[in-house]
Amino acid sequence: MRILLFGKNGQLGSELEHRLPSLGEVFVLEYPEIDFNRPDTLPEILRRVRPDIIMNAVAYTNVDKAESEPEIARRVNAEAVGEIACTARELGALLVHISTDYVFEGNKGIPYVETDPPNPLGTYAASKLAGEEAVRQAGCAHLTLRTAWLYSRRGDNFLLKVLKWAHTYPVLRLATDQIGNPTAAHLLAETIVQLLARPLKDLVDHSGIYHLAGEGSASRFELGLEILRNDPHRDEQVAQSILPATASEFPAQALRPLNTALDCEKIHRVFGLGLPNWREGVRQTLRDG
Ligand SMILES: NC(=O)c1ccc[n+]([C@@H]2O[C@H](COP(=O)([O-])OP(=O)(O)OC[C@H]3O[C@@H](n4cnc5c(N)ncnc54)[C@H](OP(=O)(O)O)[C@@H]3O)[C@@H](O)[C@H]2O)c1
Repeated sequence: MRILLFGKNGQLGSELEHRLPSLGEVFVLEYPEIDFNRPDTLPEILRRVRPDIIMNAVAYTNVDKAESEPEIARRVNAEAVGEIACTARELGALLVHISTDYVFEGNKGIPYVETDPPNPLGTYAASKLAGEEAVRQAGCAHLTLRTAWLYSRRGDNFLLKVLKWAHTYPVLRLATDQIGNPTAAHLLAETIVQLLARPLKDLVDHSGIYHLAGEGSASRFELGLEILRNDPHRDEQVAQSILPATASEFPAQALRPLNTALDCEKIHRVFGLGLPNWREGVRQTLRDG
């Protein structure tokens, strides 16, 4: 089995890089060898590698900056993905592509299922939805995995920000009305590897979109408390109080959906897979990481 991984330096990609070799021969390509901002250069690279599986963990993920760089976000998150998907079809490869809970507008009130209509609020979210659609339109075998609120011990994420704030400021204010599925990057990577260990035909036969994120949802406030509780340097925290706030108190360049809790039942039903509860993800990342 030949597996091509795009995006080894990212939160998810770095967790995949050392797990994928258990499945076969892994080819890892990273910027500047590959540049998703130049989508037309990608098919030739894929034809050279001829992978059986293309694992795409690359994305333009800066949600706020995307508002001022919409062309780049669209090229990286949609056009490049479309080129990869068309070439996957030509080569008969399976494309595993990562998408986001942000394709939803966040007003449903109960967890979103895969068949709910998307309605992205910002430029990043719209570019990710366009990527999903490009994959579907290309007609290649694909698993489009929508995940949410990714964090790890590296990168730019809420977990690291909360820890930094708690060691800097006496009072933290965290939103109680912004809700999602916190997802530990290492657990997502482990589950993707379990998924890809199944017979390729089984994966191809079940092509489609799946929600795959930490089990259960949480507000930013609840997540923050859990992070602080599991901080290995808890005794050095400066923060004395964590106060509830509303998301509207933290205006940003991009609009963000309020409640994008994902229902991950489909991937359980089809493949018998899922992630542990989000609290377990926080605990493992901070205590065992
Ligand atoms: N982070 C979240 O909270 C979240 C939530 C839901 C869904 N997702 C999705 O999950 C996936 C993984 O996210 P992540 O948090 O692991 O992302 P990340 O840490 O930001 O990593 C993104 C990767 O993409 C690479 N990249 C960006 N622009 C590129 C370009 N023009 N050419 C080649 N490579 C480029 C980056 O390389 P450099 O490091 O060299 O820039 C990095 O390796 C993405 O599809 C994302 O949309 C993320």
